[in-house]
Amino acid sequence: MNQAVYKAALQFYVDSGVEEALMDEPVNRIVDMAEKIAEQGTEKLIPENPESSNLKVETRSLSTPLLGKAEALKQAINAAQSAQTLDELREAVANFDGISLKKTASNLVFADGNSVAHIMLIGEAPGADEDRQGLPFVGVSGQLLDKILKCIDIDRKDSDPAKSIYISNMINWRPPGNRNPNATEIELSLPFIERHIQLAQPKLLIFCGGIAAKSLLNTTDSISKLRKKWHNYIPQNLSHNSQSPIPALATYHPAYLLRTPLQKKAVWADMLTLQSKCREMNL
Ligand code: URA
Repeated sequence: MNQAVYKAALQFYVDSGVEEALMDEPVNRIVDMAEKIAEQGTEKLIPENPESSNLKVETRSLSTPLLGKAEALKQAINAAQSAQTLDELREAVANFDGISLKKTASNLVFADGNSVAHIMLIGEAPGADEDRQGLPFVGVSGQLLDKILKCIDIDRKDSDPAKSIYISNMINWRPPGNRNPNATEIELSLPFIERHIQLAQPKLLIFCGGIAAKSLLNTTDSISKLRKKWHNYIPQNLSHNSQSPIPALATYHPAYLLRTPLQKKAVWADMLTLQSKCREMNL
């Protein structure tokens, strides 16, 4: 094979989201299967009742949940609701098998920053750097986010609740190849991020990007329509009898700013809106 063919094959892998080698040697599944067929014939490999066989598991798409969706959502709500502390919630997210992204991610990405900060920021989903380190917003988008927050004197590492921020994501596992999370993954993640907000008890919320803003505000409006005004956030899946709505501001995602730097001025305006709300609330 000439070099161009290898290059095209590599490009195909990169385009498909295959970016990390897990083993030194590739597994030749075609030879494995051919050997099994030679040994056993095809009847044993394709059982009469595929429903009761492992074949169902092998052929399931990685983007579909491992449980039925309604059952998975029920389990997600129960697991989230049962968590009484942030540590218990982290454990509940780690143990929940209904989101198949868990199978392909390297690490759970739960939160970073100061959990008692007045402001909680929620992004979309971890990327490759976040997946490696198990922390949200630590790649290039995160570096830009830190710079933006520094302009209004906020630092995720500060111990003062008024000068720090608590950071998490809609989705706690990296979608392969940084694809957008699908509707099922978002729906099954919602109870966990809603409980995360309930347990952290921030005074203000920032939703970074369309996916977080639309999912948490339960709307199909675009991020450009949702920006510039305060929304009243209330959870959709969890009981919230004693919880008053939390003021929430939507803003553009830093990854979008990296592609569209002209929009930095819009985010600067959003940061000033946030700053004046903090003053108004004496935070
Ligand atoms: N983008 C996000 O939305 N979250 C991260 O943690 C990293 C990149």
